[in-house]
Amino acid sequence: MKKNSTNPIIAIDGHSSTGKSSYAKMLAKELNWKHIDTGAMYRAVTLYGIQNFPEGKYIDNQALVSHLSDIHIDFIYNPETQNNDTLMNGENVESEIRGFKVSELVSLVAKIPEVRNFLVKQQREIGKKGGVVMDGRDIGTVVFPCADLKLFITASIDERAKRRFLDFQQQNKTISLEEIKENLKQRDYIDQNREVSPLTQSPDAILIDNSHLNKQETYQKILAITKEKFGNILP
Ligand code: DC
Repeated sequence: MKKNSTNPIIAIDGHSSTGKSSYAKMLAKELNWKHIDTGAMYRAVTLYGIQNFPEGKYIDNQALVSHLSDIHIDFIYNPETQNNDTLMNGENVESEIRGFKVSELVSLVAKIPEVRNFLVKQQREIGKKGGVVMDGRDIGTVVFPCADLKLFITASIDERAKRRFLDFQQQNKTISLEEIKENLKQRDYIDQNREVSPLTQSPDAILIDNSHLNKQETYQKILAITKEKFGNILP
């Protein structure tokens, strides 16, 4: 993949519930670039599997793989939330893909090689013109290994579980802190140990551990790194 320094790519990878997507969104807004949340794409495929090919508590992976070409994912700007909502086959699924059921199964779907191939192709297509901040798990390692700036965000498991717990509480969803922590641990394990493009920090990525940083402090750090790298292109 060729590097395009006039229209750069910023790759933000890292663990679940570190706020990657929020920071990517804030940064893209500041730069007036496009933001792509690739986790949302894996979540949309998972939702499609739950809806169409349930197999007990899980998803019939084979059936899902043979119907991947039926899944069309798009993003649409929502002026109310100033967010890019996810569309699956024309339906706005932004809220559904963030639910606990999808969160429970998404890592299992994301480890299927055919699913990864299917989505990585689309991610490269969306990002190829540059001017994009893309967040996920394998952006700096696989999707755009020549990204102009790579960040890897992490935080302790307790801190991440606490943040996710507060998010769910705000949405009036009753899930215990223990359940959330267990889900995060499982996802970390599956994401880091899958055979195809496991979650790992690219050697040239800058590590940000935000266990002891609040949202604003983390974002200021990201902004400072971005300014150092691209000072001349910040509006
Ligand atoms: O960022 P998120 O929590 O919405 O991601 C959901 C899941 O998708 C996560 O468990 C890992 C997977 N994922 C991935 O494997 N590769 C990506 N580029 C993005 C997400």
